[in-house]
Amino acid sequence: MAIFSIRLPAFITGIIAFGAALVIGTPAGGGEHASFSRDVLPILQQHCGECHQPGGAGQQKSGLDLSTYEGVMKGTNFGAIVVPGNSFTSNLSVLIEGRARPEINMPHNRAPLSKWQRHLIRRWIDKGAKNN
Ligand code: HEC
Repeated sequence: MAIFSIRLPAFITGIIAFGAALVIGTPAGGGEHASFSRDVLPILQQHCGECHQPGGAGQQKSGLDLSTYEGVMKGTNFGAIVVPGNSFTSNLSVLIEGRARPEINMPHNRAPLSKWQRHLIRRWIDKGAKNN
């Protein structure tokens, strides 16, 4: 019960914020559209590429290659990190939003992504994580 009394308001706020975002639309960067090649890949290349490309520390340790669409969708040696249509349960978003244990948040030992970058990735996942 206590859990509900804490979580419900946040949930409702989330719905209101989401609804407002839908009505207002998003600023520069493509409105409703979410593109892998234009929005997502450049962020991954800049902030993750160093470790998550073939031969990089993160790729060697986890199997995760973030340098291509195929690599992003394949995920780690343990499974997918993107659930198309559901950023909330996608590990990609969980880690970059700091929802995991601090020591495995990404990028490792680097400044977190900006709000806008996290938003773009979330939107791309929620729109189906397409190769577009
Ligand atoms: C400085 C190197 C480095 C950078 C930069 C980096 N990673 Fe990692 N990443 C690692 C290492 C090393 C691992 C292996 C697991 C561990 O040590 O926590 C890993 C593991 C992961 C995992 C798998 C976690 C798990 O245990 O299931 C994901 C997902 C991930 N990284 C995403 C990202 C994303 C997204 C970015 C960019 C925003 C990023 N990483 C940037 C080094 C890095």
